[in-house]
Amino acid sequence: MDRLAAAPRSLLAWEAVCCLRDRPFHPLARAKAWGDEPGPRAGFDAESGQPVWLHWIAVPAHRVRTGSTMEAFAQPLARSLLQPEGLNHLTARAEAAGAQRGYLWMPMHPWQWQQQAQAACDTGEVPCIDLGGGIGAAYPTASLRSLVMHAQPDLHLKLSLGVQALGARRTLPARYLHNGALAQRCLTQLQDRDPWLGQHLLLCDERDWWGLRQHDSLIREAGDIACVLRRYPCDLAPGTWLLPMAACAALTAGDDLPALRRLSCTDADEAWAAFRRIAALLLEAGLRCFASGVMPELHGQNVVLVVGEEGPQALLLRDHDTLRICPSLLAEAGVDVPAYAVDTSTPNSLMLDAPGQLLAYFQTLAIEVNLYAIAAAIAVAFDSDEAVGWWILRDEIARLLPAGTGSRLAATARAALLDAPEWPFKQLLAPLLARETASTGMPSALGSMRNPLRGVPS
Ligand SMILES: Nc1ncnc2c1ncn2[C@@H]1O[C@H](COP(=O)(O)OP(=O)(O)OP(=O)(O)O)[C@@H](O)[C@H]1O
Ligand SMILES: [Mg+2]
Repeated sequence: MDRLAAAPRSLLAWEAVCCLRDRPFHPLARAKAWGDEPGPRAGFDAESGQPVWLHWIAVPAHRVRTGSTMEAFAQPLARSLLQPEGLNHLTARAEAAGAQRGYLWMPMHPWQWQQQAQAACDTGEVPCIDLGGGIGAAYPTASLRSLVMHAQPDLHLKLSLGVQALGARRTLPARYLHNGALAQRCLTQLQDRDPWLGQHLLLCDERDWWGLRQHDSLIREAGDIACVLRRYPCDLAPGTWLLPMAACAALTAGDDLPALRRLSCTDADEAWAAFRRIAALLLEAGLRCFASGVMPELHGQNVVLVVGEEGPQALLLRDHDTLRICPSLLAEAGVDVPAYAVDTSTPNSLMLDAPGQLLAYFQTLAIEVNLYAIAAAIAVAFDSDEAVGWWILRDEIARLLPAGTGSRLAATARAALLDAPEWPFKQLLAPLLARETASTGMPSALGSMRNPLRGVPS
C-alpha cells in the first residue's frame, strides 16, 4: 500500500494490489505451487516488489519457432528488452560462448531455467548455450509469468513458467502463441468493423513470440522455453492511466477498497455509480464481441481500465490466446474465422458450436468472476448491499438488449441472460482434485446455478 501511495497511477503498483485478492472466488487462488525442489522463489511475485533478473540462452536459429517477422540474427528479443549496457554485456557473453552468428538469444525466467531447463541443456537434450543470468530486470504482474520491463513500462515480457497457479502449469505451448496472434488479428478486424469497439476496446500487441522447436508439429510443442512480447499502446491521451479491473475487487485488511477510492468514490452512491460505468463498458464490449461470434476471457486480470479525467473511458485487453470463437456466428457476421491450431486429442474449448457456449464464458468470467467480485467488495467497503450490484447489472443488460428489438442473436442473449431460470457456474474443486496431471488450462467444469439477475428486488 505504501508503494501504491508513492505511485498512485503506476500499473505495477496496482498489479500488486490485485494479488491481495487474486482470482475471486477460487478457493486456492493464492496458492502458487513452485515445486518441492530447493531453489529461488521468494521475490518472484508482484507483492514482493522485487525485480526478477532474466536468464539468457542462445538457441540455434533453425530450432526456433516464431510469429515475429523480425530477423533472428538481429537479436530482436535482446534489442527490444535490454538497455545499451545490458545488451553490450550479453553480446560479450555470447561472443565468448561462440553463440553470435546463427543463434537467437532468448530470455528465460530464472526459476524456469534452474528448475526446468538447466539439466536438459547441460545434457544436450535441449539445444542451447547458457549465456547466464542477471541481465535485464523485470517486475512480475499478478499473472506471475508476465513481467514489466524495468526500464520500459510499456513493454511486458510473458515467459514460460512451469509453476502451478490455479492448478495449471504456466508454460507457453507454441500453439497458444500462434493462436493468440490469430485472435489479435480477429479482434482488430472487429475494431475496424465496429466503431464502438474501435474506440472502447483497445488491444495490447502480442504478435511477436518465440519458442524452442522440439517437434515437427506445432501442436506438440510443450512450451517450456518460449516467450512473447506484449506492447502496450503508446498513444494514450496524456493524463490517462491504467488500472487492472481485478484491482477494483481487492479489499485491504481494513476493508477499504483503494481502487474505488482512487476513482474518487467517497460513499456507496458514488461507488455504485462507478460500478455502473465500469459494468457498462465491460457488458457492452462483451455483447458486441458476442454479436460477431467471439468472446475474450474477460476476467479482471485480463481486462485493464483506461482511466481519464472523467473516470474509466475504455478497456484495454491483454492475453489474447484464449479468444473463444463460434465459427458459424463469425461466418454469419462476415468476419474471417481464425485458423486456430488445436490439439484434437484433448477437449478443445477454443472453438464452440453453440452461441450459448460463448455466452457462458461471458456469464462466468465477465460477470460472475469479474463484476460480481467488484460488487461484493463495494458492499463490504461502503457498507452497502451487493444486491444493488446485481440490480445495476440487470438494468445495464436490459438497456443494451432492449426487449422486442435487435437481431436473433440479441434475442438469444436476452433469453439466456435475463429470462433463463439458470445460469452456468464454474465448478473448480472437484475438477482440480480429479485431474491426473497438471495441464496448461485451469481445471474446471460447468455446473449451473439460479439466474442471479432474476428475483433481484427492483
Ligand atoms: N482477478 C483475477 N482473475 C483471474 N486470474 C487472476 C486474477 N488475479 C490474478 N490472477 C492470476 O493471473 C493468472 C490468470 O491466468 P491467465 O491465464 O489469464 O493469465 P496469464 O496467461 O498467466 O497472463 P497474462 O494475462 O499476463 O497473459 C493466474 O495465475 C491467476 O492466479
Ligand atoms: Mg491473463
